[in-house]
Amino acid sequence: MEIIRARDYDHMSRQAANILSAQVILHPESVLGLATGSSPIGAYRQLIEWYDKGDVDFRRVHTVNLDEYVGLGPEHPQSYARFMRENFFDRVNIPRENTHIPDGTNPDTEYECARYDALIRGLGGVDLQLLGLGPNGHIGFNEPADCFTKGTHRVELTEATIRANRRFFDDEADVPRFAYTMGILDIMQAQRVVMVVSGAGKAKIVHEAFFGPVTPRVPASILQLHRNFTLVADEEALSAC
Ligand code: GLP
Repeated sequence: MEIIRARDYDHMSRQAANILSAQVILHPESVLGLATGSSPIGAYRQLIEWYDKGDVDFRRVHTVNLDEYVGLGPEHPQSYARFMRENFFDRVNIPRENTHIPDGTNPDTEYECARYDALIRGLGGVDLQLLGLGPNGHIGFNEPADCFTKGTHRVELTEATIRANRRFFDDEADVPRFAYTMGILDIMQAQRVVMVVSGAGKAKIVHEAFFGPVTPRVPASILQLHRNFTLVADEEALSAC
C-alpha cells in the first residue's frame, strides 16, 4: 500500500487525475472502474480540463461503475448513471456504449448481478479502479458485514449510509434502501486501485481501514492486501494516522 499525502481536496484531485490520465495515455484501451460521491468529482473535473486541452483521449476507454441504487432509472436526478453523465461522460469523448453501470431498474437481482460480473469478465477485468471511502468504511456499496461478498450483489444499505447520502435527496424517505454493487473480489481483482479521501470527517475511518486489522466490519481494510493500492488522501483525512 502506498500513501500519497495531498495538501487539500484540490491537490488530492490533481494527484488522482494524474494517475488516471497516465493510465489512459499509456494504455488507451484501459478498463477504468469508476466511483461516484463527492470525493472523485474534483479528479473528473481535472480530467475534463486536460481532455479539453487535447492532453488525454478517452475514445478507446471502457468504464464500469461500482454501484447504482436499486429502483432509480438512469434519468433519476440522484441515480449514479446521471451523476456520471453530468460529472464526466457527457464532457469527454468516451463512447456512450463503452460506459457501464448496474441497471438499478432491473428487478431480477440474480440476473442483473450475473450480467454485470460477466460484463466485467468480458472486458478482461478492471485495469484501474477508482474508489471513494464511505463514512463507515464501505467501498462501492460493500457495507460492513460478517463476511466479504465477492461478486456483484444487491445490498441493503445501512442506516449510516442512508443518513450520509440523505444530503442528496429532498427527504430521508426518498433515499433508496437497496443498491447493486460490485463485490470485494471484483474490486480486489483490479490491476491497480486508487482511493481518494478528503476531510477531517474521514480521519477516524481512514485510520481504522488502513492502520487497523483487515476485517469485513471495515470493508476498505481489505485493500491493505491489494498488490497495487494507492491511497490519495489530504492532510485532514490523514490527521489521525
Ligand atoms: C457512496 C458511494 C461510494 C462513495 C461514498 C462516499 O455511498 N456508493 O462509492 O465512496 O458514497 O461518498 P463521498 O465521497 O461523497 O464521501
